[in-house]
Amino acid sequence: MADIPDCWRGKGDQAPFVPGRPERIPRAASLGALFRSMACCTRCELATGRTQVVAGVGAPHARVMFIGEAPGAEEDRRGEPFVGAAGRLFNRLLKENGFSRDEVFITNVVACRPPGNRTPRAREVRAHSPWLEEQLRLVDPDVLVTLGRIALTYFLPRAKVTEVRGRPQEVERNGRVIPLLPLLHPAAILRNREELLPRMETDFARLRPLLAAARSTLRASGAGSGAGPSIARRGSRRAHDA
Ligand code: URA
Repeated sequence: MADIPDCWRGKGDQAPFVPGRPERIPRAASLGALFRSMACCTRCELATGRTQVVAGVGAPHARVMFIGEAPGAEEDRRGEPFVGAAGRLFNRLLKENGFSRDEVFITNVVACRPPGNRTPRAREVRAHSPWLEEQLRLVDPDVLVTLGRIALTYFLPRAKVTEVRGRPQEVERNGRVIPLLPLLHPAAILRNREELLPRMETDFARLRPLLAAARSTLRASGAGSGAGPSIARRGSRRAHDA
């Protein structure tokens, strides 16, 4: 990562901290290139408290993209989304529904840990938005899955997660309409497991049929790849290697 001079990555870095960088986010040729720029981001105040930027992981051309809120303490330490307590529940749900972390793409609305895990502020979401949009453009998924309120309202500002959870919505990205499945946030389930876990399991189970429907729509429109049983379209390398 020596290709970005004076890149300040996080707490304790010897490089100079210059706020507001980069002012504009260029279109990246690959996720790897995008994440190299992202690692140096100081566009909002979350940069000052992070250990490192937590970029997305998974298949660079996954058919399903999961979007959470923001990294927590464990994610900040390890540099990977959903690896703490909420992540363990999320991984279990993924597995129970026949998905592996390597074949989907997992990211967050904001890529830096908010202090004390507070909710990201509107200006922080705005500062991170071009990074998320670039991940969306490059991965180009067939189905989006939002985890919790912040991710849902990023796409559908008036939606209420308690009202629409488990009910497919639609958003426009990359010149097409993409189905979006709103789910509860795994951390919310941990706080009220007895009541919310059965709901989450039912809602999560809607993903497979939604993906199959999205595939047949794409095939009918001539845009599908006709890929086999794997849900990753073109390889399932780790996004960081792309
Ligand atoms: N919660 C999130 O929203 N994202 C993570 O990566 C971890 C916990």
